[in-house]
Amino acid sequence: MKFFLDTGIVDEIKRANEWGIIDGVTTNPSLIAKAGRTQADVIKEITRIVDGPISAEVISTKASGMVDEALVLTKIHENVVIKLPMTVDGIIACKQLSKQNIKTNVTLVFSVNQALLAAKNGATYVSPFIGRLDDIGHDGMQLIREMRVVFDNYGFATEVLAASIRNCVHVRECALAGADVATMPYDVMRALFNHTLTDIGLEKFLADYNKSQR
Ligand code: G3P
Repeated sequence: MKFFLDTGIVDEIKRANEWGIIDGVTTNPSLIAKAGRTQADVIKEITRIVDGPISAEVISTKASGMVDEALVLTKIHENVVIKLPMTVDGIIACKQLSKQNIKTNVTLVFSVNQALLAAKNGATYVSPFIGRLDDIGHDGMQLIREMRVVFDNYGFATEVLAASIRNCVHVRECALAGADVATMPYDVMRALFNHTLTDIGLEKFLADYNKSQR
């Protein structure tokens, strides 16, 4: 499973990139607003750090506007992936961009039917939002499982990019469900390293080593 970092904070990307496990980055307008910089600036800087797909989201609500924005964003770097909303216009833009071999990530996906529409129009990635489904009492992980089955049933090359990941259990379950990618915040990625028994075990090994040196 590929790991993407879901952030617009460049320092987080630099720190996590040192771990050697980042395959790409996703951003959205809320994450860019948190960074307090322009999208173009943030995306440009990320491309200098991470050699992998970097999602940048369009703001236009009309297909033609989305395509125009996409053409500007893809000029920043060849690794830029165009994030499109799961709307009729977003899906139209998805088709047009796929025809031009521009990579796309259809976002705000909450049902398997929406995922199917995006895959049919050639989306490179589809982003189901697990946490936001859980927030309203639905089972976000069930959507990942269903998308895996549907994409495999029809041999879609579109990748399941699990998004709105809030904790380590989400990551584990995404891996078990066969998500192609999990995009997660910095804190969740950092927490993947932790286990109490690792800490206790290491403390004991070091204490025993020190004893044996006396
Ligand atoms: O990038 C989109 C997604 O990961 C947002 O997550 O936590 O705002 O639902 P969240």
